[in-house]
Amino acid sequence: MSDNPRNVITVRGLTKSYGATSVLKGVDFSVARGEVHALLGGNGAGKSTMIRIITGASSKNDGDIRFFDSDGRERSETEGRGKVAVVHQELALLPHLTVAENIALPRHRKASGLFRRRAAAEQAFDALRMIDQDFAAKSVHKLVGSLSLHEGQMVEIARALSSGAELILLDEPTANLTAVETERLFAVLRRLTRDNDLSVVFVSHRMKEIRQIANVCTIIRDGRTVLDRQAMEELTDADIIEKMGQVAGSLAAERAPPTTLRPGASAERNTLTIKEPGFKLELLPGTVLGVAGASAGPATLIEGLTGAARKKRWTVARAAWPDQFGSPRTAARLGAGFVTGDRAHKGVLHSLPIIDNVMASRRVIRGAAIAGSSEGAECLDLLKALKVKAASIWDLPNTLSGGTQQKLLLARWLGVPSRLLVLEEPTRGVDIGTKREIYQLIRQMAASGTVIVWWSTENAELLEVCDRVIAFDTEGRCAGVLEQNDFSEEKLVSLTGMAA
Ligand SMILES: Nc1ncnc2c1ncn2[C@@H]1O[C@H](COP(=O)(O)OP(=O)(O)OP(=O)(O)O)[C@@H](O)[C@H]1O
Ligand SMILES: [Mg+2]
Repeated sequence: MSDNPRNVITVRGLTKSYGATSVLKGVDFSVARGEVHALLGGNGAGKSTMIRIITGASSKNDGDIRFFDSDGRERSETEGRGKVAVVHQELALLPHLTVAENIALPRHRKASGLFRRRAAAEQAFDALRMIDQDFAAKSVHKLVGSLSLHEGQMVEIARALSSGAELILLDEPTANLTAVETERLFAVLRRLTRDNDLSVVFVSHRMKEIRQIANVCTIIRDGRTVLDRQAMEELTDADIIEKMGQVAGSLAAERAPPTTLRPGASAERNTLTIKEPGFKLELLPGTVLGVAGASAGPATLIEGLTGAARKKRWTVARAAWPDQFGSPRTAARLGAGFVTGDRAHKGVLHSLPIIDNVMASRRVIRGAAIAGSSEGAECLDLLKALKVKAASIWDLPNTLSGGTQQKLLLARWLGVPSRLLVLEEPTRGVDIGTKREIYQLIRQMAASGTVIVWWSTENAELLEVCDRVIAFDTEGRCAGVLEQNDFSEEKLVSLTGMAA
């Protein structure tokens, strides 16, 4: 019997090791019907590992996982897993199939081996419409490989929502979504939990969102449950952060003055100008420029600044720089760095060890492909600054948790003297404790004269750390630039047209 007749799943004493590394050391976790359950913990706590074990993607070493039907009767493991859908932390879509095929395939596969195209398109449309009507109409027949990261995230969520599952596991589903999309997703989740008794497990490092959507939470720390099924309203943010083993506090007090380098002859010479037809923005060394808005605008700006696009709408100009960086190598040597938002496909070098991932840009700049003798120590220092715990710098990055892989990408540019550093969602999936450290590191890099251009879908962090914020509306047009004395969430929301 279930300990609670309303449970859809009960996990007891779950353990998991990879070789000598013990990752889960006895996790307890249970989810009741109709609830949104936040699964919380710092980077590397074991959240994704448990989710993979629940869905059967990984095996467990020991412990008990039981699934129950709505009458409280235990289901077989196969039957139980059949009622579970998951959105993984890194997208798992098939790029050479269309959106409709990706959404419908898991369900239509059984129909006498024939894939019913029309039915699939209808199902996909209905699923996507729950989150975004326009996107649904435009994208059903597109190839998934042609979508942006953020569109892919919506497809993946739609697939889970339309799967008919009774339990949906969302591993950081909002990491690539804007405020308005997140709000729509939450509305759908609220409706499905209320009307259909759906249960949702929600993993996120964004405290505000967790409060908005979850009724109950479980906190795991270092592979153990430290708080089992607690009502969210009984906990303060400080309680939660402390249980996760992280340090609370605000960055506001430690914030450096806006532009550390005063305009002068040398600053003038080093000023960066970014522009598009009809618009120009001058950035003094040491400026942190935030970029806000739905993906279309920021993506175009970043393509232009990093030289990724052939035909560029946006360009960047600086004395002694060519009109265009011929290659990422040239860009790096001239002092222009880039942290991609698509860590799984474009950022992490999956087949190379951690040290190669961290030292990559330094090697390009120094012109050495082979590890120098002091690299090991340098790499360890960088990892320490970002609180990365790795068994060995010679391990592959896929032995690290999602948020920890994100830190590798940032470490690549940390302390590299550069003129311009473009950051795409650099704190995606990074836990609360480390986010603060990253904000400080970004300010430090700015203080040394680097211009930082930083796109984030989390408005609060932009307003906390940046000197100015350039906002794009939902059509991808530049809607204005907010100066620091003008900062407010309301202004940003109205400029970006993303009022929920
Ligand atoms: N294949 C593997 N080999 C060795 N260690 C692994 C492997 N996969 C995961 N780990 C380790 O397991 C621990 C838990 O990782 P997991 O991905 O579950 O963390 P998480 O709670 O999801 O963190 P995040 O918030 O960063 O996503 C980490 O210390 C990670 O390094
Ligand atoms: Mg994870």
